[in-house]
Amino acid sequence: FEPSPLDASKLVVNLAKELKPIPPPESLVFGETKTDHMLIVHYDPAKNGWSAPEIKPYGPLSIDPASSCLQYCPNVFEGMKAYIGPQGEARLFRPQMNMERLVRSAARVALPNFDETALLALIKCLVTVDKRWIPTKPGYSLYIRPTIIGTRTNLGVRFSDSATLYVIMSPSGPYFKNGLHPISLLAISDAVRAWPGGTGSHKLGLNYAPAFLPQIDAIKKGYDQILWLLETESEDTKKKDYRITEVGAMNVFLVTKRDDGDLDLTTPPLDGTILPGVTRLSTLNLADAHTRGEICFPNVPPTLKIHTHEKRITISHLRSLWSEGKVLEFFGVGTAAILAPVQKIGWEGEDMVFPEGQEKGGLGMIGKAILETITSIQTGQLKFKDW
Ligand code: COI
Repeated sequence: FEPSPLDASKLVVNLAKELKPIPPPESLVFGETKTDHMLIVHYDPAKNGWSAPEIKPYGPLSIDPASSCLQYCPNVFEGMKAYIGPQGEARLFRPQMNMERLVRSAARVALPNFDETALLALIKCLVTVDKRWIPTKPGYSLYIRPTIIGTRTNLGVRFSDSATLYVIMSPSGPYFKNGLHPISLLAISDAVRAWPGGTGSHKLGLNYAPAFLPQIDAIKKGYDQILWLLETESEDTKKKDYRITEVGAMNVFLVTKRDDGDLDLTTPPLDGTILPGVTRLSTLNLADAHTRGEICFPNVPPTLKIHTHEKRITISHLRSLWSEGKVLEFFGVGTAAILAPVQKIGWEGEDMVFPEGQEKGGLGMIGKAILETITSIQTGQLKFKDW
């Protein structure tokens, strides 16, 4: 028997009778306010596969208390954003990448497969229905959260053969409550975010909860976020060292000076412990495009070459680059915040303080250029490939 595929042409739309008032953008807190509608579709092999997708008023789900999503956590999600373009059109940013990653995440916890083109078509319908919720204020957007949860109601420890896929949306401004500002990180090695053979390269809900306690501890010690490390052997000395993996829930980038006057832009490789972020790849792609002369980063000399590297950065190497004065910028990137400059890293009782960027929010030259270029592409001011 072939289960029915996810089919966008079967969409049923039940609009809300009353629409909610849209709060002023300045009052928005990331992820707090939800739009009027949600998309929902169920998978049940006994009922022939994927049901007809439905757009309906935003509201609670009714699920059995034994559901696998509540017990064993086969839960996966995505983060995407919609913007309003110059013609008043709704725009998504490289959404195929989110669809492909959601398929991979679902497969990792044995949730059912789905047709990613169909889901993208459905998300476009949902965004169109709730288009009035897309903020137009610069720095604001409509955050989209596609989610798949296991709904098997048997407590036996086994993969979930039934699931619910839903998409909710939240108009949002800056991810951090103080807006764009340089953040401080506490580097820790006793708790790890991901490890070889683990699930760090997939977007699973269960990757996030173990970070909550270390995050509380970092705040108590006066830092904003965690710098996640993973024990490793130093390539040169073969001694125990720690490689840098991610910043809070973001990918990490280091900008350093080279002896020939060019810059190096380095991020850890996708070795299974790193989330393959859309903003991570876009940052690498745009820096390469600047160096090839295909685009010109704002306020960066067109002749300044930025050499991109996907390679391991150990904390001891970072410390020696810092003590030699070679660290120009260190920042996190992700869909939610786009780019967050880092000003200080605490490690083994000592703080590495980086030169604070002179631009608004403590941005450095490269961080600012990347943030502005990505935002211009997202809002349709700048055309770049089919992004
Ligand atoms: C992002 O940066 O988009 C993230 O993945 C963080 C998030 C879970 C809000």
